[in-house]
Amino acid sequence: MAPETLVLAGAEEAPLRDLTSYQAVGGYAQLAKARALAPQEVITLLIESNLRGRGGAFFPTGRKASFIPTPDKIAKPVYITVNADESEPGTFKDREIMLRVPHRLVEGCLIAAHAIQSRFVFIYIRGEYSTEYEVLQAAVDEARAAGLLADVEMLVHRGAGAYICGEETALLESLEGKRGQPRSKPPFPAIEGLYASPTLINNVETITTIPVVLEVGPEEFSKIGVPPDSTGTRVFCLSGNVVRPGAYERPHGITVRELIYDIGGGIADGRELKAVMVGGSSFPVMTPDEVDTKLDATSLGQKGLFIGSRRAVLHARVLR
Ligand SMILES: Cc1cc2nc3c(=O)[nH]c(=O)nc-3n(C[C@H](O)[C@H](O)[C@H](O)COP(=O)(O)O)c2cc1C
Repeated sequence: MAPETLVLAGAEEAPLRDLTSYQAVGGYAQLAKARALAPQEVITLLIESNLRGRGGAFFPTGRKASFIPTPDKIAKPVYITVNADESEPGTFKDREIMLRVPHRLVEGCLIAAHAIQSRFVFIYIRGEYSTEYEVLQAAVDEARAAGLLADVEMLVHRGAGAYICGEETALLESLEGKRGQPRSKPPFPAIEGLYASPTLINNVETITTIPVVLEVGPEEFSKIGVPPDSTGTRVFCLSGNVVRPGAYERPHGITVRELIYDIGGGIADGRELKAVMVGGSSFPVMTPDEVDTKLDATSLGQKGLFIGSRRAVLHARVLR
């Protein structure tokens, strides 16, 4: 059976915040492994794993990285921007990742930087996340002091509280110091992003999954969850009227029933389930007779729902 926690591994009981404890569970070993490979080889591993973006569109991560021009093709710097703006109501998975395993996010950024040959990483964090900012900044400082950043500059930038800045091009505008408004596409950020340079933009959970892909290997990773489309795990946000709300990492394909009843302890006060919101407020609600639906892209797609959008928010609401 696939392990249940990969992204949050080691932090199931208590947060894994400092460098020493992260290294005690093998932290930064995957960065060393990646740096011993050619950049293109790292991108190939990501493509083979079929890791898809955890921030919205479920776009294949390796393929997105392959769109970034290599230094021989362009005379500009290339950038990495991590989307930590997380403002969708009911979504709090990136927050949990940053609080529990900040160094795994930093490690993922550095592996991605090697893959696309970038020397600049910007992490754009939601302005309201002040504790998360402090924890993440401390991890970046610690990694820098330990020499792990090598020649990479890593900057954690606090947003000012605008929901729209989670949209990738509005985020870039905001990072450049302008009003956070979406740009028209094309050009896509991979070609013309931050300061009109090629920019790889990924969600916190996506980037934090990169060291996991290297650790388990792309072949094994691609068997976890519901292959071929929904590989790996997700950090599901369970909220609403359940006994044990929280962020729980499980492989794709767990059912809504398992999430609510086995993991979440069922509906509070012994009440009856009325509806479940899967995928955020812009999608249809799931009725109680549908709770055996699996949480993977194909199963949800058949119901007119979509796991990629709004990061698999899950609310359980009960009858009054
Ligand atoms: C209105 C709007 C809000 C968004 N908010 C977020 C967000 O808070 N966090 C996020 O990672 N992606 C958000 N996205 C998706 C991003 O535009 C982008 O697709 C994502 O960061 C790409 O990362 P990924 O490939 O790792 O999923 C939003 C998109 C839209 C249209």
